[in-house]
Amino acid sequence: MDTNYKSIRIAYFSGTGCTETVADCLEKQLIESGIDVTKTKISCNTASYTEETDLLIILSPVYAFGLADIVEKWLAGLPHVEHTKAVIISVSGGGEVSPNTACRMRSKRILKGKGYDVVYEKMIVMPSNFGVETPEELSVRLINVLPVKVESIISDILSGNHNTVEPEFKDRIYAAAGRMEHFGAKVFGRFIYASDSCNGCGQCIKNCPKENISMHNGKVKFGFKCIWCLKCIYGCSCGALSPGIVKSSVLKNGFNINRVKEMAGEMGDDGNKEISSAMWKGVIEYLKD
Ligand SMILES: Cc1cc2nc3c(=O)[nH]c(=O)nc-3n(C[C@H](O)[C@H](O)[C@H](O)COP(=O)(O)O)c2cc1C
Repeated sequence: MDTNYKSIRIAYFSGTGCTETVADCLEKQLIESGIDVTKTKISCNTASYTEETDLLIILSPVYAFGLADIVEKWLAGLPHVEHTKAVIISVSGGGEVSPNTACRMRSKRILKGKGYDVVYEKMIVMPSNFGVETPEELSVRLINVLPVKVESIISDILSGNHNTVEPEFKDRIYAAAGRMEHFGAKVFGRFIYASDSCNGCGQCIKNCPKENISMHNGKVKFGFKCIWCLKCIYGCSCGALSPGIVKSSVLKNGFNINRVKEMAGEMGDDGNKEISSAMWKGVIEYLKD
């Protein structure tokens, strides 16, 4: 069955640029297929929309086996529709493994409540920005394979192929428990601090999708609205921001997706070295697919 989508809305949130990279790739390929694309970047101030499209595609990073809270809140504010089709693409560092398989469940429920028919869901894997750094070889391969993965998703969507995942019960439980991360994130954010190397440029204030950072007497102050996206810490050009708690969540060498993209461009096929590790099982499976 071929669909006849003329207009598609892509709505995405991205903390450190991985999901944005996927959204950009998707937009480019859809436009090349002759489709009218509207792209919405979600932040705490992103208004809902009034003009309807034939299909809504939601993209979000995976945080603690769920989608980003900011995305779920935006979905909850959408106007009701009559059976508009929707697609959810989650972007993770670990891949479609347990319990990540349950990450889209809540968003699917919210969309269904709004009258959407979620016809397709998929995981895209990108280099991890959390806890453990993805090995360079894998990171490069993830960047290089992205256009192929996106092409396959678009081909599925436009041909009307459905893909919905029924997560195992235990994964649903983990995903539900993962929602405690929302409170943890607020506390994490409250304890981020700036060292003396902060030059007061205010980039973190501009970058924060939750408007959680402000300047007081020349010093940055963090409020209680953080969603743990890590955009402020990794994006600080002075390297002045550090977590006060759960320090292990932040990669020691920082995270810069543009650096990985440059590396992918330079390394070409050299990046295709085989790697095997139980820890990166989901990433290796994704690359084999
Ligand atoms: C707070 C937090 C929690 C995360 N939890 C998961 C997780 O449960 N599973 C996973 O595979 N990746 C997890 N990640 C990694 C991100 O999903 C991944 O790096 C993603 O590509 C980041 O997208 P972004 O650059 O658009 O923000 C987490 C990252 C953060 C910051």
